Amino acid sequence: MDDHRLTIVSNIQVLREEIADLRAQKKTVALVPTMGALHEGHLSLIDFAKEHADQVVCSIYVNPKQFAPGEDLDAYPRPLIDDIRALEGKLTDFVFTPTDDEMYPDGFSTNISVSGVTSPLCGKSRPDHFDGVATVVTKLLMMVQPDIAIFGEKDYQQLLVIRRFVRDLNIPIEILGAPIVRSDDGLALSSRNQYLSEDERKTAPLLHQTLLQLAEDIKEERSKLSSLIEASSNKLTKAGFEVDYLEIRDAKSLAPIIEIYEDQTARLFVAAKLGTTRLIDNVAV
Ligand code: PAJ
Repeated sequence: MDDHRLTIVSNIQVLREEIADLRAQKKTVALVPTMGALHEGHLSLIDFAKEHADQVVCSIYVNPKQFAPGEDLDAYPRPLIDDIRALEGKLTDFVFTPTDDEMYPDGFSTNISVSGVTSPLCGKSRPDHFDGVATVVTKLLMMVQPDIAIFGEKDYQQLLVIRRFVRDLNIPIEILGAPIVRSDDGLALSSRNQYLSEDERKTAPLLHQTLLQLAEDIKEERSKLSSLIEASSNKLTKAGFEVDYLEIRDAKSLAPIIEIYEDQTARLFVAAKLGTTRLIDNVAV
């Protein structure tokens, strides 16, 4: 008989007691932080977590600190009941839904600020975004104190930022990256895809197709790196995207790549708006 049970916790103290019980039973714990509006991309992280730990905690918290004024904080979808149902189907053990008051009590004054990897790509157009992410993820790691935490390569720069401060601050938690889950047409799943109109949704897969083609072309014609990137960016613009960036960078440091060598670990990164929806994607070269 399936005796699986999903426990929903909002209170940090209650969660800590639950986790302490698990520790006493020598169970390992994985944390999957999310902002909810869960899709198959998020759920793949739960499966991944379950393969690496005995118990899985999924946090759902729409973190105001990582949204700039004018971004989609208020519009961000919050279908909590659907999310809980989806997590039940995935054998999640705990859903942690902290409140704003618990996360940022009156007088909250601390900011985790990461330099370097936060500067390029999304850091340029969203200057405080990664500090907001670093602050909330540090807090979630401290609250749950898991053995491991899982993040998607969909938000590749975010994964590198998290790896960096976890290393820098000696946080004794292993960070694991999980592959990007896509629709059949290649579009990376994202909670924000539901903002797309029918027409925009038809255009959206071009983002990934363009990246894949560009990665192939770069391997064939290394010397034409910058002109190939420019042509791809123009192609996206013609199709109706407003390109924020399309860049090739070192996959570990995010250092810019001017010339590409055989054994380099390079990655292509793109962010572009379709109408008001900002989409991001990345592929290995
Ligand atoms: P959110 O956008 O909800 O994403 C939660 C996790 O799911 C992140 O690690 C993200 O990379 C991963 N993810 C999203 N779409 C994915 C896809 N198509 N394939 C694989 N993984 C995917 O990222 C955040 O929330 C927040 O910044 C958070 C880390 C929770 C801090 O607030």
